[in-house]
Amino acid sequence: MNQAAEEFTYAEQDLNTYSGISDYYDVLMTNGYYNYEEITRNLLEVLGSRRRVLELGVGTGLVAEGLLQQNSGLSLTGLDNTESMLAQAKERLGDKIKYELQDVTTFSLDRTFEASFSVGGCWYFIDHGDRLEFCSHIDDRQTCEQSLRRVIEHLEPGGVLSLALQDPHTDYSKPLTDELTYSQAIHDEGAGLFTKQYTFTKENEVVAEQFYRYLVISEQEIHDFFLELGCKPLGLNSTRKFFTYQKQ
Ligand SMILES: C[S@@+](CC[C@H](N)C(=O)[O-])C[C@H]1O[C@@H](n2cnc3c(N)ncnc32)[C@H](O)[C@@H]1O
Repeated sequence: MNQAAEEFTYAEQDLNTYSGISDYYDVLMTNGYYNYEEITRNLLEVLGSRRRVLELGVGTGLVAEGLLQQNSGLSLTGLDNTESMLAQAKERLGDKIKYELQDVTTFSLDRTFEASFSVGGCWYFIDHGDRLEFCSHIDDRQTCEQSLRRVIEHLEPGGVLSLALQDPHTDYSKPLTDELTYSQAIHDEGAGLFTKQYTFTKENEVVAEQFYRYLVISEQEIHDFFLELGCKPLGLNSTRKFFTYQKQ
């Protein structure tokens, strides 16, 4: 673990949740971190005529909001394990979607879905141009695989799981408003793990921070795992923004 990450763990906050930075999440995301218009346009293409949809790691509901603005016929369920993120989704969307405050590693629902997706939520792909890497918010390999199994069990035959692609992570710092600055620092721990430290500062004072450890799995290994789960890799969408698996 690098020096910064080591120091950060002294804060004794919850690791691997977004509780430390949830108050600042929207201002970061809507200042260029993600392009929600592009994400929702591509996701609607991937979902096609599927209506009953589960979002894994719905966060504050920004993707769900974009989807519903373009297709009010969708029946969305948003799952998240960070209460303060889900509270903002509820404020944003009211009764337009269903909410599940559950951890994807243990979740259980009384219904199945035609589609499930994650946009930087529980899982995503890092796009290196010539190859993809599967990236997991669940940093233990066995628990990650059990969670994916659980997701597939909640899909109907023919249902799809679509995961958004992201650019490789880098260290950087950028102003979000006149007084608020965001910084992130990435540290490769080896053995398929990396850490990311998110920090928000105002006049050089840290006002929020979160430390997250991610697991990385190679493209071939994850495709093989999905095949074991009875899911066929359908591949990338036309604009290379989502990778989709289909339950057979
Ligand atoms: C980067 S945010 C993405 C939120 C949303 N999809 C968006 O695009 O704005 C990741 C979300 O995934 C949730 N998450 C991470 N690990 C999770 C887990 N094990 N179970 C449920 N939710 C999880 C976090 O709480 C957070 O709200």
